[in-house]
Amino acid sequence: MAQRTKIKDILHAQTGKDYTVMGWVRTFRNSQFIALNDGSCLANLQIVVDFEKMDAAFLKRITTGAALKIDGHLIPSQGKGQNVELTATHIDILGDCDPEVYPLQPKKHSLEFLREIAHLRFRTNTFSAVFRVRHALAFAIHKFFNERGFVYLHSPIITGSDAEGAGEMFQVTTLDLNNVPKNEDGSINYKKDFFGKATNLTVSGQLEAELGALALSEVYTFGPTFRAENSNTSRHLAEFWMIEPEVAFADLTDNMNLAEDMLKYLISYALEHCAEDLAFLDQRLADEEKQKPQQDRAEMGLLEKLRFCIEHPFERLTYTEAIEILKNSTPNKKKKFQYLIEEWGADLQSEHERYLVEKHFRKPVILTDYPKKIKAFYMRLNDDNNTVRAMDILFPGIGEIIGGSQREERYEVLLERMQEMHIPAEEMSWFLDTRKFGTCPHAGFGLGFERLVQFVTGMSNIRDVIPFPRYPGNAEF
Ligand code: 4AD
Ligand code: MG
Repeated sequence: MAQRTKIKDILHAQTGKDYTVMGWVRTFRNSQFIALNDGSCLANLQIVVDFEKMDAAFLKRITTGAALKIDGHLIPSQGKGQNVELTATHIDILGDCDPEVYPLQPKKHSLEFLREIAHLRFRTNTFSAVFRVRHALAFAIHKFFNERGFVYLHSPIITGSDAEGAGEMFQVTTLDLNNVPKNEDGSINYKKDFFGKATNLTVSGQLEAELGALALSEVYTFGPTFRAENSNTSRHLAEFWMIEPEVAFADLTDNMNLAEDMLKYLISYALEHCAEDLAFLDQRLADEEKQKPQQDRAEMGLLEKLRFCIEHPFERLTYTEAIEILKNSTPNKKKKFQYLIEEWGADLQSEHERYLVEKHFRKPVILTDYPKKIKAFYMRLNDDNNTVRAMDILFPGIGEIIGGSQREERYEVLLERMQEMHIPAEEMSWFLDTRKFGTCPHAGFGLGFERLVQFVTGMSNIRDVIPFPRYPGNAEF
């Protein structure tokens, strides 16, 4: 095709020259002004059409959503709202778009409606901004780890293990579900299955990342993970992307420092490289907040919140300290929490996490040293024999954004924990081997990528920050 100039570039290009642009019509005003968007940036390019010289039937085909190729002359704009505009010398319609049936009209649509037409929602300002920010964050993650000498490790997507031991797995099989081969005792004969054993989609790449870290020192994974948990919330997906760094010769403090540095780096990167999109999302959120009653509105705007987050150290405290704060909190005393905090050992619900972050500390919080009973088997046991070297990072408006720990590197202790928690040690000899052959202190964590994108874009529902969300009852597109 002809050389095209992206709209992002033409907005700052030299005037007085000829250019070719391609994109989709957002609006066509007075048969004269086309607002053209090609997704390279939020802004549209204004195209000026000399309608008197054009065929009326042709002009009618310039409708919202149509794809056009336009040759024209770039001039300083006469009108307000843009610096330059393109006077069209030739227009080709690459793809018509029938306005009678095109679902996206040039008006405000609800996010719920747009979710139903997720195949077209990229064409809106909100979603194009969200997905450009998502891209920038993904890129920044690789940049961050690359600059620090981490090795990007591709952990398997199909696996035989349940890394979290929580049993929330999607099974992977090629067995005929209408005629499942059985053993004599009536159980399923997985020896006849594709891999000769039962397999599932991974819930986390951590265990494989540990294997890598115990040779390469510093690794990270960044891939899709799957959880068959029946959580219909604005923070859960059945398929989400996770970043899991794993570091040898590191303890929990090193782990917290890495996580805090990483989050600040990523947010700073977005502020610097996505200024136009974030300014738009900031305004979008401000408009959305105005619809809420005064007491429910967020205290900070999006940009303010992002800057606040990089400028202040995260609050660090133990689970035990947090329980004391929660026990004595007003919502607990007034029985406003749905789950009241009565004793040490209680699992924290998102209402508690949000109270700590949004009401008590008013900044990101790192909670450490959780009861072993409510955490995974691989976390390092403290000397009290009761808590583990876990850390959760809690963010305003999000709750848990990161979960991680120092790992149990002592063979005997790990084996005992696995037995206590009914983790099949015999199937995980490969994991235990690392503790037998040159084990060492190590630590890591998992960042939920969509929760990060949610935080940075201010989108309230996680289904609106991944192109095609998977959640209970939905696997469209
Ligand atoms: O806390 P989680 O379950 O931790 C792990 O999977 C560890 N193996 C990580 C590690 O230490 N390497 O999950 C980590 C993060 C959570 O903090 C959350 O941000 C995100 O993953 N997450 C989800 N995001 C969207 N939808 C879900 N269903 C999620 N479950 C967890
Ligand atoms: Mg967690």
